[in-house]
Amino acid sequence: MTSALFSPIRLADLDLPNRIVVSPMCQYSADDGCANDWHLGHLGMLANSGAGLLVVEATHVTRPGRITHGCLGLYSDACEAELARVVAHCRRFGTAKLGIQIAHAGRKASSQRPWEGGGALKADQDPWDTMAPSAIPFGAGWHTPRAMTHDDIAAAREAFVAAARRAVRLGFDAIELHMAHGYLIHSFMSPISNKRNDEYGGPREARYRFPLDVAKAVREVVPAGIALGARITGSDWTEGGLDADDAVAFSRELKALGFDFVCISSGGVTAETRNPATPAYNAPIAERVRREAGVATRTVGLITAPKQAEALVADGKVDMVALARGVLDDPHWGWHAALELGADVARPSQYARAAPKLWPGATMRT
Ligand SMILES: Cc1cc2nc3c(=O)[nH]c(=O)nc-3n(C[C@H](O)[C@H](O)[C@H](O)COP(=O)(O)O)c2cc1C
Repeated sequence: MTSALFSPIRLADLDLPNRIVVSPMCQYSADDGCANDWHLGHLGMLANSGAGLLVVEATHVTRPGRITHGCLGLYSDACEAELARVVAHCRRFGTAKLGIQIAHAGRKASSQRPWEGGGALKADQDPWDTMAPSAIPFGAGWHTPRAMTHDDIAAAREAFVAAARRAVRLGFDAIELHMAHGYLIHSFMSPISNKRNDEYGGPREARYRFPLDVAKAVREVVPAGIALGARITGSDWTEGGLDADDAVAFSRELKALGFDFVCISSGGVTAETRNPATPAYNAPIAERVRREAGVATRTVGLITAPKQAEALVADGKVDMVALARGVLDDPHWGWHAALELGADVARPSQYARAAPKLWPGATMRT
């Protein structure tokens, strides 16, 4: 049996042995933006999940652009040095290629960690000022952001560029911009959160101006061989919000700028909106993007079973699948998927004897 999920894919100069991606997942465990031993253990583990690509969590381009006090950043030499230690560990012991997501939280910054409530930081929790396209809070009880000036917009773009340069220096194989989930870039794109009446708001082209300025500026500093992509919104799941047509139009623009892939996610534009709870709920949108924009397309969201992931790729709906909660629950998800789909997967030498083909009749040598 030949598995589509376990067939190789090339993005720029990056060769991935399979189409499984560990989705970026915030750990809320950094020290003032810097990675520590939690990240070493967590990413070290997931670098051996069997996924071809492991994407480091949303890593913020400025200190006030972090979601929480515990979010990773890539805005200082200290952040870069601590992340270098984690990258070196994953390279030495892991089998996955390494990607990083760079992000700015916009009006969702200055939040509590999920396990502290997940709302806006309270006055005694060292909150900070937030900014967004318009001075509209994410939801009831959230901070009111400052409407960004043209100087703020230019500075945010340059912060993305500076973080991308650091990511290149760290040797990441893939870099992706976080343009979804209600964070800064998405909040410019969506008519729900962007009510500006200057050249950055109003019609679609104007709402896309800042996101595409960032994309273009980042593309200029990321060498062509490194896979550059973006996680974008397939739907705001709300009346008057972004939908699949917008995702197709935006993906075409990214492709024209030389982006190598998009990841279709969705939701998060306001505190009230809810994503569907159906399996692979973003896949129909991703399928349209793949077909109509002609860019390598990944999707994410309630993909949990190997055969489900296999069918998404085999049926030509997507080029890659990303999993988040599924790999936290089973950090060797890729190994188990390979077994189920009759494919091979790389394991570190230390764990090679766990490969099922070494079991039958194998003599246990201790
Ligand atoms: C603990 C956790 C942290 C997350 N952090 C991020 C993040 O840093 N960036 C991002 O784009 N999505 C983040 N997400 C969303 C996931 O990447 C994924 O899109 C979502 O969980 C749906 O996929 P799943 O059904 O496989 O979990 C996070 C999800 C979880 C569970």
